[in-house]
Parts: sequence; structure tokens; C-alpha cells
Amino acid sequence: MDRHRVIGGPDGGIPWHLPDDVAHFRAAAEGRYLLLGRRTFEEMQGWFTHQTPLVLTRQEDYRVPGGGRVSDVAEALARAAAAGQNLLLVAGGATVFAATIAMADRMLLTLVDTDVSEGLSSAQSDALPRFPDPAAFGDWRETSRIERPEDDRHVFARTFLELKRS
Ligand SMILES: NC(=O)c1ccc[n+]([C@@H]2O[C@H](COP(=O)([O-])OP(=O)(O)OC[C@H]3O[C@@H](n4cnc5c(N)ncnc54)[C@H](OP(=O)(O)O)[C@@H]3O)[C@@H](O)[C@H]2O)c1
Repeated sequence: MDRHRVIGGPDGGIPWHLPDDVAHFRAAAEGRYLLLGRRTFEEMQGWFTHQTPLVLTRQEDYRVPGGGRVSDVAEALARAAAAGQNLLLVAGGATVFAATIAMADRMLLTLVDTDVSEGLSSAQSDALPRFPDPAAFGDWRETSRIERPEDDRHVFARTFLELKRS
């Protein structure tokens, strides 16, 4: 997320390319069941190799190669548990983060030192997808923090945080 919790650009997609953040996400997702909104899933087509995507959608005939469609979060949790998974990794987008943060017990956040809204009108800015404010959903304790400055491959500084519900 950016400085104002924005996670996507005005035309969809992730508004930065940060190789270490991609690697961080890949490592967290390896072998996991992932819960994704249908829009995020469609943006990530071809990405899933060692993960099982569970896609939240209201379209009853939606097909998810290598995974499955789910109608709600409870169904996703039940499917992950039935497969012997001890966690379900919520991978966005904004609607899915909003629907699940109240029941999350751990968060992996990358804070990206940029402002996606810069140069946009306030209506455009308001329409951007955002991560919810964690403080509105309980008390969290920081269990890990790694700060990385900008460099040749990363145009923005990043802070990798791990939070646990306290
Ligand atoms: N920076 C990051 O880490 C990150 C991570 C993920 C995504 N993103 C960005 O976030 C943006 C997409 O987020 P978004 O919020 O627009 O879309 P989204 O959450 O990916 O997908 C929304 C879709 O999910 C389905 N859905 C959501 N809630 C549902 C519910 N309660 N029951 C059934 N279906 C439900 C609906 O699908 P149907 O319309 O098919 O019914 C809805 O249209 C993109 O810009 C993406 O790049 C960023």
C-alpha cells in the first residue's frame, strides 16, 4: 500500500513494480490456498503455479483452473481446512481485504513510500482501491519490520511489516 493505503492504480493493476515485494509475496504464497477477488484473480492470470486460488465471485458459472470459485469467506475457509491447510492467505483486492480483515490474525504489509493519488482529482483519488485501516479492526503488535531504501531496481523505499493480532 502507498502512504494513504492505496493498493491499485486508477485503471486497475498494481501501481508499482518492486521486485523484492513480488518475491516477498511469492514466498508467503508458496503452497498456500489464496483467497482473491475476481478482479484481482483476472489480473493475475498465469501467475499461479504453486498456489491454489479460491476466487470470490457472484458469478455462479465462473471457472477457476487449478482452484475453485467460492461464494463467501466461510466457504473459502472450509475448503482450505478440508485440504489440511492451517491458513488461508487473503491476497486482495480492496473488497476482499475489507471483507476479511476483521477475522485476520496476522498481516503481511508492504508500505511503499509513494502517493498514487498525486496529480489525480479528488473524485479519482476517492475511487482508488485501498487497504482498510488496521487500527479500526483491533489491536496489532508488530512482530517484524524490515526497511529497504530505494535503489537501482526499486524506485520507492519499502517497509515490510508483519503484524499479529494482540
Ligand atoms: N497492492 C496490492 O497488494 C494489491 C493486491 C491485490 C489487488 N490489488 C489491486 O486491487 C484492485 C482490485 O481490487 P477491487 O477491490 O477492485 O477488486 P477485487 O476485490 O479484486 O474483486 C472484486 C470482485 O470480487 C467479487 N466479490 C467481492 N466481494 C464479494 C462477496 N462478498 N461475495 C461474492 N463476490 C465478491 C466480485 O466479483 P464478481 O463481479 O465476479 O461477482 C467483485 O466484483 C486492482 O487494482 C489490483 O491490482 C492490489
